[in-house]
Amino acid sequence: MSRQVSICVIGSGYVGLVAAVCFAEVGHKVICVDNNEAKVNMLQQGIAPIYEEHLPEMLARHLNKGVTFTTDLGPAIEACEAVFIAVGTPQGSSGSADLSYVEAVVSEIARYVTSYKVLVEKSTVPVYTNEWVSRCMHRHGVEPELFDVVSNPEFLREGTAIEDFLHPDRIVVGANNDRSAQLLRDIYAPLTEGTYYTQPEALPGMCSPANPAKLLVTSAQSAEIIKHSSNAFLALKISFINAVANLAESVDADIEDIATGMGLDSRIGTRFLRAGIGYGGSCFPKDVAAFYWVAQQQGIDFQILDEVRKINAHQQEIFFNKVRAALWTLRGKKLAALGLAFKADTDDIRDSPAIDIIRKLIDAGVSITAYDPAAIEKTKAVLPPSDSMQYAEDPYSAAEGADAVIILTEWKEFGKLDLHRLNHALKFPIIIDGRNLYKPAFMQEQGFTYVSVGRPAVYSAQQGKPRKIVLS
Ligand code: NAD
Ligand code: UGA
Repeated sequence: MSRQVSICVIGSGYVGLVAAVCFAEVGHKVICVDNNEAKVNMLQQGIAPIYEEHLPEMLARHLNKGVTFTTDLGPAIEACEAVFIAVGTPQGSSGSADLSYVEAVVSEIARYVTSYKVLVEKSTVPVYTNEWVSRCMHRHGVEPELFDVVSNPEFLREGTAIEDFLHPDRIVVGANNDRSAQLLRDIYAPLTEGTYYTQPEALPGMCSPANPAKLLVTSAQSAEIIKHSSNAFLALKISFINAVANLAESVDADIEDIATGMGLDSRIGTRFLRAGIGYGGSCFPKDVAAFYWVAQQQGIDFQILDEVRKINAHQQEIFFNKVRAALWTLRGKKLAALGLAFKADTDDIRDSPAIDIIRKLIDAGVSITAYDPAAIEKTKAVLPPSDSMQYAEDPYSAAEGADAVIILTEWKEFGKLDLHRLNHALKFPIIIDGRNLYKPAFMQEQGFTYVSVGRPAVYSAQQGKPRKIVLS
């Protein structure tokens, strides 16, 4: 039978905010603390600072009931049994994770601990961080019987974060004793016992009362490595398919057919085999680097991770060269860029391959008019409007008078464009698609020159086929 647990979540970013709201959704009492006053002010008014499906409704439902937001850490620590640390762990020097935000939070928590608390590492951290958190608490004078540290890595994806949290593939708890593991079991009981899924307002998804979420208890070190190795393995799958895509393209094979054919083997699976312009985002690039560094510290040369990174970086160059090859020269050309976010269904542009490619094109003398359904405002902060960077309200105005369209993010709406309208707006009917959203033969029928990833390019009758496109 589930019991209500008092929880403090520190950090109200993608992970902290989603965890806080979802813990309230399953019946717990949550205080979410952030040191960014502007963010906390927004949240106190029920405004979600990030673009995430289901978040606005769920925030409205639980605000000031199951979940409150504050900048004041002390009372939040006093009131709770479990403290989830969900602050950023960005890439530091030489690839290692920068744990200074985690250390700062732990030092602050230590000031307020007067009764037993379980500190939960929710941020993605290298192996042995659990031990460092304990050591840090000791150094700040907290008695060992007043706390335990547990690793509970988060596997949600941006864009589907709420659904991933409430319908997880697995919940991993890395605990070194039963008392702390039991508290985490209590917290996740509505999902692991399936009671949440019986509620009429429960968010529908993969889990159900008959198929509840699975919880795996391991040592702290194993849990920390499960997180890093899961992200690294997913990144490896993407780099692998991108490398195969380049081979496929050079022999006129079709990477979409190849990925389908491979994925039908249930040992391989179809997911994360989409070739494109390389992975981005705030996690894969930094986590691959951090995991490589972790191995290095143990004297292990995890070379395959370096290859994953190199293939990923090369994938952007290949796309850039495709644009150049399709346009002959770049200086003075005008391009419509569809997509700015690092993936679909998010406004996050951290480490977005789309932004990197746009910057490179601008450096080469191209002027860009960009459209993205969610990420324009965030992009304006890093690429302010200028002669070479304009923003449009829809794909067709972005394409007005442009020499070609480049597709950089896999938003669904970019795969359902009114091609007649697009063709009419463009100076030349050329699309260079970094996300393989259309079938080449269909695009040729529609009168386009269409260049994609890992598939033969097709040429409109008007454009004609060049003798050779040099890719890299
Ligand atoms: P984020 O940058 O969106 O949010 C971090 C939040 O922590 C910010 O709001 C910041 O103001 C706050 N913060 C920093 N220092 C603080 C302090 N001393 N006190 C209170 N608040 C403080 O980060 P994120 O994307 O949510 O990622 C957090 C962690 O979770 C990272 O380790 C990341 O690798 C991991 N992770 C992220 C995702 C994802 O999809 N974004 C998924 C799984 C795991
Ligand atoms: C990723 C993982 O999927 C989550 O499980 C993990 O919790 C999270 O990182 C994290 O630790 O932060 P996320 O970064 O939100 O989630 O996005 P993904 O859907 O994994 O996509 C990452 C990048 O890979 C995007 O740029 C996407 O376009 C690209 N991608 C993804 C491909 O190029 N091909 C694919 O087949 C899949």
